[in-house]
Amino acid sequence: MIEKELWHPVALSVDVAEAPAPARLLGEDLVLWRDAQGQAHAWQDRCPHRGAQLSLGRVVPCEKEGGARLECPYHGWRFDAAGQCMQVPALPGFKPPATHRARTFAAREAHGLIWVRLDGEEAGELPVFEAESDARLRKLNCGPYDVATSAPRLIENFLDMSHFGFVHEGWLGAREMTAIDDYQVQATPTGLLATGCKAWQPQASINSTRPAHVEYSYEVTAPYTAVLLKIPEAQSVGAEGYREAIALFICPIDAERCRVWFRLATADWTRGDAQLREFQDTIFLQDKPVLESQRPRSLPLDLRAELHTAADKASSFYRRYLKGLGITIGVC
Ligand code: FES
Ligand code: FE
Repeated sequence: MIEKELWHPVALSVDVAEAPAPARLLGEDLVLWRDAQGQAHAWQDRCPHRGAQLSLGRVVPCEKEGGARLECPYHGWRFDAAGQCMQVPALPGFKPPATHRARTFAAREAHGLIWVRLDGEEAGELPVFEAESDARLRKLNCGPYDVATSAPRLIENFLDMSHFGFVHEGWLGAREMTAIDDYQVQATPTGLLATGCKAWQPQASINSTRPAHVEYSYEVTAPYTAVLLKIPEAQSVGAEGYREAIALFICPIDAERCRVWFRLATADWTRGDAQLREFQDTIFLQDKPVLESQRPRSLPLDLRAELHTAADKASSFYRRYLKGLGITIGVC
């Protein structure tokens, strides 16, 4: 399954602290925890002894090695950071052999999130978010939002401008200004890039002071990841040089359920985190009921299954791209 060869976000880094935390990715239950060095780990959430959920356990310090161990909640077996069982409390003199180990997966941290790869490999690039390294932009994660649809339906919605005047009326669009000018779509090594996308927006961001034409570019940077760059007309925003990039990061919990985060990279350094999150919540909670109403929840890759217009060419391109990659989760 190609999806298992990709890195997927599973939780906010800040949500994995002292206690082990559960997560779910592509139908696999995970336990996330941190060792004494603060390194994040992602394992199968099942103890190899009797199948109890390790996420109900606790992290205990290991004085001998200055490390930490994950303790199963049932019989207290303790596992080191590599997944090896080091201690079976019912048999104090027993040295567990190499076969007594938890199933581990590769885990990394980036963009304020913990990322996991399920195929046992550690290699491969995480999706790029160019704005991440731009020190002029402040970064902030919004979410998680749990959504009952597939990851590809979410990506398509993110690329879609012709819903603005209806779903986001008075915010990102208006019913009197729904025409979509032609825009360009091209293939990139990681997906697609749509440029020259224009929208007339009553309230393009929390900083906008009046309706404005906003120019967008959209990039699909991995099958379930997309980034938009938004540049409003200079006079329409309170903050000088205002611009923002937003990444959409999706954890495909399974084929038809997702956990979603947005990572904002914004030139707004004055507002509080809560205010910026509130704007993003408002917009996404407008999208959510429509997204959850779409049938099928999986994205049809046969272009004859749904109707398309020139305004939808980014999404048609995205469908061809997923088909070419051989994506199977969240598509039909
Ligand atoms: Fe985990 Fe027994 S089920 S120690
Ligand atoms: Fe929307």
